[in-house]
Amino acid sequence: MCGIVGAVSRSGAVLEGLLDGLRKLEYRGYDSCGVAMFDPGLANGAVQIRRKVGRLTELEKLLADGALGAARAGIGHTRWATHGKPSDENAHPHTDGSGRMALVHNGIIENYLELRAELTADGAVFRSETDTEVLTHLVGRELARGKSLLDAVRASLRRVQGYYAIAVMALENGPDGKAAARLVCARQGPPLVVAATPEIGLCGSDVLALLKYTRDVVFVEDGDIVELAPGRIAITDFDGKAVARPVRHVDWDEEAASKGGFPHHMLKEIHEQPDVLARTAFDRILQVEGDVDFEGAGFDDARLRAIERIQVVACGTALHAGMIGKYLIENLAGVAVDCDFASEFRYREPVLAPRSAVLAISQSGETADTLAAMRLARERGLAPLSICNVQGSTVVRESEGVILTHAGPEIGVASTKAFVAQVIASYLLAVRLGRARGKLSVEQGRELLDELRRLRPRLEGLITEKTVERVRSIAVKHLKAKGFFFLGRGVNFPVALEGALKLKEISYVHAEGYAAGEMKHGPIALIEPGMPIVVINSPGRVADKVRSNIEQVKARGGHVISIGADEQSHALADESIPVPASSEWLSPLLNVVPLQLFAYHHALARGCDIDKPRNLAKSVTVE
Ligand code: M6R
Repeated sequence: MCGIVGAVSRSGAVLEGLLDGLRKLEYRGYDSCGVAMFDPGLANGAVQIRRKVGRLTELEKLLADGALGAARAGIGHTRWATHGKPSDENAHPHTDGSGRMALVHNGIIENYLELRAELTADGAVFRSETDTEVLTHLVGRELARGKSLLDAVRASLRRVQGYYAIAVMALENGPDGKAAARLVCARQGPPLVVAATPEIGLCGSDVLALLKYTRDVVFVEDGDIVELAPGRIAITDFDGKAVARPVRHVDWDEEAASKGGFPHHMLKEIHEQPDVLARTAFDRILQVEGDVDFEGAGFDDARLRAIERIQVVACGTALHAGMIGKYLIENLAGVAVDCDFASEFRYREPVLAPRSAVLAISQSGETADTLAAMRLARERGLAPLSICNVQGSTVVRESEGVILTHAGPEIGVASTKAFVAQVIASYLLAVRLGRARGKLSVEQGRELLDELRRLRPRLEGLITEKTVERVRSIAVKHLKAKGFFFLGRGVNFPVALEGALKLKEISYVHAEGYAAGEMKHGPIALIEPGMPIVVINSPGRVADKVRSNIEQVKARGGHVISIGADEQSHALADESIPVPASSEWLSPLLNVVPLQLFAYHHALARGCDIDKPRNLAKSVTVE
């Protein structure tokens, strides 16, 4: 995780641009940060490094003296610690001490201990506990042997095992004897994007970091080494052979990545959900045919008819969306679906049915476990399909069929709108599969898609001041609770898991999501008088079963908070948050909204950092 940026400009200052990029990447890690800058005008002519434990604001204080304000080249980093605690010393950039180079890294160098021993024996002095610093000394040693930066990076990367996205800046003397900064970056695993305008060459972990300058970017692939200069992107492989990568135009803009007047990204993203529904679904609906049109190949009738089983691989919230997708696809299309944590799937010996497809679900498209699971399934012959939010991401590039979710950039670490978009995409896929395989008639397809259209005003009606205030007042009433249960059944069981995950990750309160029917097999022993039990129930095939589960909880003194469209559950509950009625299959999209708001207001009242919860990072590109 961690975010990296780099810039080398023809004549302009780059510090502000780098800091802006780091601000956009802070979601990737935020325990410490730093920059390394080169300003040919400074008397000592060396690379200047500033690093600080804590948030970017701490680094900004350090830079407030303006000493580096005119620098024309630099690299920057925002960290999520893997090796060595968050501290000034462990913060990136790292350097070999020569004053002529610095490096930032996202990833893990697995053989760092043995390299560290070798380099120490060779005279290198280590100043941090990080794995990254070995790479710094390797590059430094190659530079000292007279290699160009590009060759030094190439030779050093040959020595490391692990995965990385790196940016390295080093000074080389030009024919006039004056030092000039060179910038090289490389990728093996974590994401890396580069761009060049006539004025500046740029790299970053995410397109968001480059949007200030351009929307035309190149996605770097594994094994690529890139030399950047104003107006020039030169990509080569490990053997020095030139590699061509397309320039892609991204449709996100800076405004989409801002808070838009909301106090937190998470709250803004919750409010965006009715629009996300429209963006993800409406242009794809074929009203007359009662069908769905996905752009690109991968979802045509012949291919979908050939699929007999679907293996979903995903992590966290994306897996919960996939679990809802299982109910939708099995019920609407009659295709068996298995769901697995990507981190489990990749390390067992999965027995995969022939004629299966793997469906990777990921907001970022860069989650290490999801990618590895998807690649494993592909190696075993499964057709790779994906539901993903980031155009050009690795998951997208490695899929044969992609459903882009069009949720726009999601910055809050707690996923909200991306989840809703993933469930909508799963619903569309279920309808498409059902139509392609003859399980759904034209009329049934039309009815299901009409229902989806009708959802937008219902979602809008749910995110009103009145509901938000009702959720807030209930959420703050339970601030002293030791723990929460979230219960649901059927298609709303994964919603219960998602409600619990939201609460734990941003408010640090223990919350357990459970299948309501499983409570009696053990967890019911935990219920004490007054314990808050959030029950999600909407009309459908298991609504009466859930009501019985409410009775069981109440009989043990549990304090029931009922969420959903089932009036009878509300009548049984101690407190209730009604949501508008919908078809059973779409009820998760409505029921999840109060759960998101519940977590938000509970965390806010506890004084937690909503958008940057402790110990977490948005994009988990390490194992
Ligand atoms: O980018 P991805 O969708 O692959 O990320 C998967 C999970 O890391 C992510 O959903 C995580 O669980 C969120 N923080 C949950 O809010």
